[in-house]
Amino acid sequence: MSMDPSKRTVLLTGAAGEIGHGLVHGLRSHDDIRIIATDLKEIPEETRSLCDEVHVGDVCDEGLMQQLIAMHEVTDIYHLAALLSTRAEHVPEVAHEVNVGGTWNLLKLAAAHSASHGESVRFVLPSTIAIYGLDGPEHKQRVGKVVEGEFNLPKTIYGANKLYCEHLGRYYSRHYRRLADDRGSARIDFRSLRLPGVIAAETKPTGGTSDYVPEMIHAAATGQPCVCFVRPTTRIPWMTMPECVQSLLDIGRMERDRMSQSVYNVASFSATAGEVADILRMHFPDARIEFEPDENRQAIVDSWPGDVDISCANTDWNYSPRWNLEEAFEHYIVPSIRTHYAQA
Ligand code: SER
Repeated sequence: MSMDPSKRTVLLTGAAGEIGHGLVHGLRSHDDIRIIATDLKEIPEETRSLCDEVHVGDVCDEGLMQQLIAMHEVTDIYHLAALLSTRAEHVPEVAHEVNVGGTWNLLKLAAAHSASHGESVRFVLPSTIAIYGLDGPEHKQRVGKVVEGEFNLPKTIYGANKLYCEHLGRYYSRHYRRLADDRGSARIDFRSLRLPGVIAAETKPTGGTSDYVPEMIHAAATGQPCVCFVRPTTRIPWMTMPECVQSLLDIGRMERDRMSQSVYNVASFSATAGEVADILRMHFPDARIEFEPDENRQAIVDSWPGDVDISCANTDWNYSPRWNLEEAFEHYIVPSIRTHYAQA
C-alpha cells in the first residue's frame, strides 16, 4: 500500500465504546492522521464515516492485529478495548484475557513492528482510578487526594489488569529484552492516563462501576426515574468526555522529554453522588432519583479514591481541568444532553 510518509497512522481499538466515539472525532480534526479502527462489535456509522478503515475483530487475535499494524505501518496505538470493572468482576478470567492479553498482544506486535521498521511506535493506554485500593469510606476521607505511587493495591480484577498493563507498557518502553544482543531495536513509547469516572452527554456507559452518575444524568434528561446504586455520600473524581478526549490527545502528542513518568492521574473535579443529584434537580426539577446502595458495587467504589492529585500532569504538560462540577453541568452536560435527546 502506498502511504504518505508525513502522515501518522493510528490504530484505535475499542472504537465502538464511549471513549472510542469521542476520540475518533478528536483525532479526525487533525488532517494529518489516518485512523484504522477496530472493535469486537459493529462500529456505529457515525464513527465509521470518520475512519479510514474499520475492522470488526478481537484485540487478542494475533493474526488480525499483526496484519493491521504491518499493513498500515501503524505509528500510534490508542488501545481502548477493555472490559470495565463491573462486567469484569462477573467474568474475571475473561477480563484477564481481554484486558491483559489484548494489551500484551498489541505491545508485543508493536515492538516487533518497531524493530523491523526502525521506527518507534507510540502506545497510549487509558488506565483508571480502579488501580488504587483503599480500605473504605473512612480511609478515603483520611487520605484525600492520592498521588500516582500510593495505594496501588486494586480490589477488582479490572484494577489489577490495568495496573499490570501500566507495568507492561513501562517495561516494553524502558527495559524490554535488556539482556539481548539486539536490545534497543524495538522502541515503544508508552503513555497512560489514570482516568476518573467519565461523563458523556451523547453516549451511556455499560459495564462500569462509575456508571451511577451518567445513569442518573441520562435518566433525569429523559424524564425517567433512577435508582442510584451507591450512597449519596460516595465520592470519586470525575471528568467530562470532551476533557477526557482532549487529555488523551494531549498525552498522545506530548514530547517524550517533557514526561517525567509514563502514567499520570487526571481529573476535573471530585463530587459525591448526592452533590450530582442536587445539581441535576436544579437543572431538571422533575428528576426522580432514589438511592438504594448495592453492597457489592458500593464496596468497589469505596475502594477508589475520593480525589486524585494531578500535580505531576500539571507540572509536566500543563494539564489542568477545563470545568469544575457546576461549570461542567452548565457548559457541557446540560446543553449537550438536551440537544442530544432533542435530536434523537
Ligand atoms: N469507569 C471505570 C469503571 O467504572 C473505572 O475506570 O469501571
